[in-house]
Amino acid sequence: MDAPWIAVAAADALAAGEFISVTAAGQRCLLANVDGVLYAVEDNCSHEDYPLAFGCLEGARIKCSLHGSRFDLASGAACEEPAVTPLRTYRLMVADGQIWLHPSSSTAN
Ligand code: FES
Repeated sequence: MDAPWIAVAAADALAAGEFISVTAAGQRCLLANVDGVLYAVEDNCSHEDYPLAFGCLEGARIKCSLHGSRFDLASGAACEEPAVTPLRTYRLMVADGQIWLHPSSSTAN
């Protein structure tokens, strides 16, 4: 049986250029708003198990503040070393004034 969608934030919680860390089904996820498009990836750098929420957005990429790897928010791909393993990405939808996240990742590393 498919896992249910989980409400993780109010629909207006993120302005363009903002991101937050949320927990859904025991997984820490990073929600980001890039020019009005919402993305969700695991909030954990694949290099050394470090929260990406400490980093910064650079366009549609999140930059890890520890060693500087950048990850594509749409695909989860690691764009720069030292990280090489992609992030898990998550499906999102907006309904009933909430952002809903599906805890089954769209991509797996
Ligand atoms: S922990 Fe993120 S690049 Fe090293």
